[in-house]
Amino acid sequence: TWTMLNIVEESVEAVRKQVGDGRAICALSGGVDSAVAAALVQRAIGDRLTCVFVDHGLLRKGEAEQVERDFVAATGVKLRVVDAADRFLKALEGVSDPEEKRKIIGREFIRVFEDEQRAILADGPVDFLVQGTLYPDVVESGGGTGTANIKSHHNVGGLPEDLQFTLVEPLRTLFKDEVRRAGEELGLPAAMVWRQPFPGPGLGIRIVGEVTRERLDLLREADAIAREELSRAGLDRDIWQCPVVLLADVRSVGVQGDGRTYGHPVVLRPVTSEDAMTADWARVPYDVLARISTRITNEVREVNRVVLDVTSKPPGTIEWE
Ligand code: XMP
Repeated sequence: TWTMLNIVEESVEAVRKQVGDGRAICALSGGVDSAVAAALVQRAIGDRLTCVFVDHGLLRKGEAEQVERDFVAATGVKLRVVDAADRFLKALEGVSDPEEKRKIIGREFIRVFEDEQRAILADGPVDFLVQGTLYPDVVESGGGTGTANIKSHHNVGGLPEDLQFTLVEPLRTLFKDEVRRAGEELGLPAAMVWRQPFPGPGLGIRIVGEVTRERLDLLREADAIAREELSRAGLDRDIWQCPVVLLADVRSVGVQGDGRTYGHPVVLRPVTSEDAMTADWARVPYDVLARISTRITNEVREVNRVVLDVTSKPPGTIEWE
């Protein structure tokens, strides 16, 4: 039978064949896709793979540590970490348009990655670039079927025009659930394997309005609370993902204690899905929603209202931007 073990072994073998004696580099995003792709390639070619983790400052709470510590411990992967938060924030200054944000984040990512690349090339030639492209990415960006590009999916690792690498894409035929099972097969930490999808541009496309350090901090706290409560309620595997969106350009009046507040709303966007191509809003129990709402409004200064998105995809997309 065609088990996940077969798929992993075949992929490792295919990578070995493709890369031969060559070296490869891979950008880790913190997500399961790039992690599984990297772990597969690591298993195939060992430390002829160098991974680069660009921390763009748009990650959620604890995510950078998960890559730097847990993933490296589980795989023994050779990793270079770049703290590029200042650079990304500077480039995003004054920008509100979603596609513009994606372009800037993609562009900065490529620049930082290219700098790292130069350093890695000092140790000898590199011919291969590993990407965690999944089947739905291939389809949605028009690669498989000629479908229109709905949002420019600048996955972390988005490519420069003058591509001088051969791509290694070991997950190109897989759906998300298959990638997760492959990750388990490869011995990756459960927290990473079962981590819900998170967009490459990160919290940058979950702030409606300009991205600033203060807003990122607010959103990071609200997001951490939502994730914690959903996990505590045992809903991680029922919910595909739950974007938490900060409506930074909207304010509404509230009251807290004796005082009037005039703060920002956050939107909870829990969805169920098979592959992110379509989605339904998740029927999260009211008491769980109530706990999330109470905690966010109590613990996150500046947020005085929590709203629930009850739109399916289509017509809504999963992310707000
Ligand atoms: P949408 O919002 O298009 O999202 O329904 C579908 C899935 O893709 C993720 N997403 C992205 N992932 N770069 C990414 O790597 C992006 O620019 C991007 N935009 C959306 C989203 O989180 C969902 O899982």
